[in-house]
Amino acid sequence: MGSTTSPELDQFAADVLEGLSSTPKTLSSRYFYDDEGSRLFMEIMKLPEYYPTRAELKIFTEQKKDICRAFMDEVDAIDLIELGAGDGTKTAVLIEHLLSIGADFTYHPIDISKEANDTLGAKFTEKFPDLRIDPHTGDYFKVLDSLKNGNGRRKVIMFLGSNIGNFLRDNAVAFFRSLREVMTENDRLFIGFDMQKDPRTIVAAYDDKQGITAEFNLNLLRRINRELGGDFDLGKFSHYAQYRPLECAARSFLISREKQTVTIKALNRSFDFEQWEAIFMEISQKYTHSMIDELAGDGGFEIAREFYNEEDFYIDSFWKPV
Ligand code: AVJ
Repeated sequence: MGSTTSPELDQFAADVLEGLSSTPKTLSSRYFYDDEGSRLFMEIMKLPEYYPTRAELKIFTEQKKDICRAFMDEVDAIDLIELGAGDGTKTAVLIEHLLSIGADFTYHPIDISKEANDTLGAKFTEKFPDLRIDPHTGDYFKVLDSLKNGNGRRKVIMFLGSNIGNFLRDNAVAFFRSLREVMTENDRLFIGFDMQKDPRTIVAAYDDKQGITAEFNLNLLRRINRELGGDFDLGKFSHYAQYRPLECAARSFLISREKQTVTIKALNRSFDFEQWEAIFMEISQKYTHSMIDELAGDGGFEIAREFYNEEDFYIDSFWKPV
């Protein structure tokens, strides 16, 4: 390749080339979050159909005392690290409580979108003048290393919003293992899991009436056009979401509405699409209790505590290394 200009762009180009050359064609949801994609996801979080954000916010609001007590259990200071912080609305509930009990902590939000991070930094500095905040823009896979050299304080690493659902199982286990490697026995993980539920509720969340999720999906084609010189005609693709109850997995696709050829300049290549051919865009895994148990074990952790609402609609799971 070499026609692009940065390692990030080269990686993006390489991944798009690999994905569109595969059968079935696929694009990685980790590239959804350019500034526009991050904005669209914040719109999704406000949709009536998109329940996970409100479910997690409710758990935080109702159980913030217990959650913060678990964070600070047996230690007097922590580094609160959030992978994929976004707009931080839910985290604000925990931060407000930690400040109100005089906890000694620094908040380290990490997000891939600079715009999202700047907005969060400005909002939190204004809202919480006493908060020590140290935002970091970057890919959270890549900041893991920088977390290694601890200062002796407990790291509480948060991975909220069921973001883990975007990983295929093997990748989720590998991700937890690599987190485990930069953690000491005293550190903790706090992870949001969206639970298996009525399939109709799930499908509605990923196929909203206003079409924001469709826009969110199509935005990746727009990003390829802009950053890699693609000529995707967005009007010739449509968003399709499904849920498979046996696998507890929601998946989304972009469907080519007609036979067409798309050219991507930075790749020096064209890609043929059959009419109704699908590009696999995203998995949003849902979980059962036993799936979470097994994930923790395989990743090198044990469940220390779980925070959930009565119907096990959504779980925030607190893990300690084994
Ligand atoms: C940010 C990965 C948690 O899978 O529910 C929302 C992303 N995709 N609507 C999810 C998303 C379509 C979201 N996560």
